[in-house]
Amino acid sequence: MTVLPVHSSEPIVPAADAAARPSPLLGVYRQPPMELVRGAGVELFDADDRAYLDFTSGIGVNALGYADAGVAAAMREALDTGLVHTSNLFYTAPARRLADALVSRAPLPSVFFCNSGAEANEGAFKFARRWARDLGGPAKHEIVALRGGFHGRLFASLAATDRPHYRAPFRPLAGGVTIVEREMRVLERALDAETVAAVIVEPVQGEGGVRVIDPEFLRDLRALTQERRVALILDEIQCGLGRTGYFFAFERAGIVPDLVTLAKPLAGGLPMGAVLLSAEIASAMKPGDHGTTFGGGPLVASVALHVVERLADPELLAHVREDGAWLGAELAAMAERTQRIRAVRGIGYMWGIDVMQPAADVVTRAREAGLLILTAGEFTVRILPPLVATRDDLARGLAILEGALG
Ligand SMILES: Cc1ncc(COP(=O)(O)O)c(C=O)c1O
Repeated sequence: MTVLPVHSSEPIVPAADAAARPSPLLGVYRQPPMELVRGAGVELFDADDRAYLDFTSGIGVNALGYADAGVAAAMREALDTGLVHTSNLFYTAPARRLADALVSRAPLPSVFFCNSGAEANEGAFKFARRWARDLGGPAKHEIVALRGGFHGRLFASLAATDRPHYRAPFRPLAGGVTIVEREMRVLERALDAETVAAVIVEPVQGEGGVRVIDPEFLRDLRALTQERRVALILDEIQCGLGRTGYFFAFERAGIVPDLVTLAKPLAGGLPMGAVLLSAEIASAMKPGDHGTTFGGGPLVASVALHVVERLADPELLAHVREDGAWLGAELAAMAERTQRIRAVRGIGYMWGIDVMQPAADVVTRAREAGLLILTAGEFTVRILPPLVATRDDLARGLAILEGALG
């Protein structure tokens, strides 16, 4: 029998060997053959202490990078209270303060906390349906989603996600969810006032190839949804909380949605999601209508409170807008120079480039050269640097990316 060295800081198996051997972790991800052991600023380090410039931000989560002193202090302070979890049977100060911090920055007065992006969208669907049922009876329950959208991997959020190979093995998905083309004339037909409860849109479609939805389109959709009494849900799980250079991406369009879903960067890497609700939809929800054991616990809420204040800082947002525009211009210049990029799309610190080879090959070569990036579809490379990345960091990453294009 092996006795585990409980108090030893030495790994039982050297990390590099551990990464190389078969693992009991469920094989639903394709991890590269390295193991990350620490992070600092915009860099991650593997078991051989090799540095990687991280332009994935843990898929849009680590907006403040790694080893952020403020996040660490917020975590420590929260731990000192002895309250990691209490359940929602009781109020705690962090959840209340976080709710105030979010609604004071949003045109929506109510918030529900949960644990992930998919869970936030599932909650938003339920809230919209509950409200719509009061308004139009049980027939008014359909959810409409858009071509190219990604809303999560649970049954209803997957039904709203336009990725055939994610969906096919799990049919039948949740009913009453339809995906339509991203065109106003199609939506005018699809958003039937009698049967549709809600439409869900990502103001910037992330997984779907980094497609910035035209603010004009969002304004027209807002007008149409108001006319038909259909709830407008904005999924800001990837594009919200500063990533576009606006605290909420919808601010750019000057609209007020009915529901907004948040997650990824919200709690500095701890799992947390949130749904912001209009007063009208919030008033349709009654005690017992929805719930989740861990949602808005004191530890995650304390950290999120710190993160929200940092991400709402006008200086940080201006930096993301300005340096993000510079990043976009540099990517466009790279496309021109290399002739290896078909299109460049994005805003703020969220960019997609269509490449002429499998995007996964570019990701692999970039990693081998010390830069971590993502794909968003077969031929799109996606870049999501931490929002604290400086122009110098961006320039370093761009140089590696150019080399990785081959
Ligand atoms: C726009 C959007 N919505 C929902 C989700 C699902 O979030 P989670 O993976 O936390 O369930 C994601 C995740 O990538 C996302 O980008």
